[in-house]
Amino acid sequence: VRTRVAVIGAGPAGLLLSHLLGLHGIESVVLDSRSREEIETTVRAGVLEQGTVEILSETGASDRVLTTGQKHEGMELRFDGEGHRIDFAATVGRAVWLYPQHEVLKDLVAARLAAGQDLRFGVTAERVEDAGTNRPRVVAKDAEGNTVEIEADVVIGADGSRSVTREAVTGTYGGYFREYPFAWFGILCEAPPSAEELIYSNSPNGFALISQRSPGVQRMYFQCDPATDPGAYGEEQLWEILRSRVPGTTLNEGRVFQRDVLRFRSFVAHETRRGRVVLVGDAAHTVPPTGAKGMNLAVADVVVLTEALRALLLDGDGSLFDAFPETARKRIWKAQHFSWWMTSMLHLQPGASDFDRMRQIGELRSVVESEAGRAYLAEGYTGWPLG
Ligand code: DHB
Repeated sequence: VRTRVAVIGAGPAGLLLSHLLGLHGIESVVLDSRSREEIETTVRAGVLEQGTVEILSETGASDRVLTTGQKHEGMELRFDGEGHRIDFAATVGRAVWLYPQHEVLKDLVAARLAAGQDLRFGVTAERVEDAGTNRPRVVAKDAEGNTVEIEADVVIGADGSRSVTREAVTGTYGGYFREYPFAWFGILCEAPPSAEELIYSNSPNGFALISQRSPGVQRMYFQCDPATDPGAYGEEQLWEILRSRVPGTTLNEGRVFQRDVLRFRSFVAHETRRGRVVLVGDAAHTVPPTGAKGMNLAVADVVVLTEALRALLLDGDGSLFDAFPETARKRIWKAQHFSWWMTSMLHLQPGASDFDRMRQIGELRSVVESEAGRAYLAEGYTGWPLG
């Protein structure tokens, strides 16, 4: 198979990139080891920055994000027995939308198939060869075990945190890495939202996040030990833990129909490009979930990369393509810092002293009681400009 851009991974980064390239008339092949059904049903993140929503709606990738997504113009930070609203609209004039990642993926898959995109599910990339040349190749296996080779002008590794493309780019999987001594226990439950807006709660018992998915379904998380087995708690125990983490708020409770444990890691690959092979999204960087930057950062990567590929492949001008790693690096580290900051400010560190906990409350208070502090948080949360 020969194409202009071979994209490994049909997640938000890979599918959106093929969509944006398609608008410029640049042909691509997208492959993913997973089935379409798995991609469209796996529950992941749920918060879209305003810039992400604008890209999806203005490029025709999704109308539904505006019709069924929920616009949020603020959030609550809860600590020391009180809730404090961060007003995004008043501080930075921006907003976020609650719209599940797998719904974004459904929209993108539908849009790509309608446009005649060569989209191959159940095809597993095994390695990328000839990264240093103008004809890099993806060697993959289809569901029947047949070898598929895709030769392209550019290969994109949008294949997530366990990327196989990364080896062709960084050699030794090298990167900046941090692991956190806690995780999130996530549930979906059948009950209407407990509050209009999301609640991020720092409590003496640890962190909790009260989020939502639809008028009848809530998504909630609480800080737990990374070794926790998702089946470890009965439903009543789950509610007891959650109630103890958001004192002062009454939670709407309902049947818990999904549970999972999310690991907390920060990672940035030392290199995000080698020759004509580029890493985007989780293949290039991972953030802990607090602050919901993961998918939004993937979207920012591919928006910037689209311009670079357009100049390279249509105008023969490689300057933006050569500058891509440096351009992407700046935003990546802002998002890394923001995710680390939200995480460290809100979670109970194992072994934290009384001093550490009181200092954390002081930090939270210095954010919510300052207009500059509220604006700083709102700016990062709703997303820095893409330009
Ligand atoms: C959700 C996830 C996040 O990481 C976050 O910061 C906010 C909301 C969610 O899944 O709803």
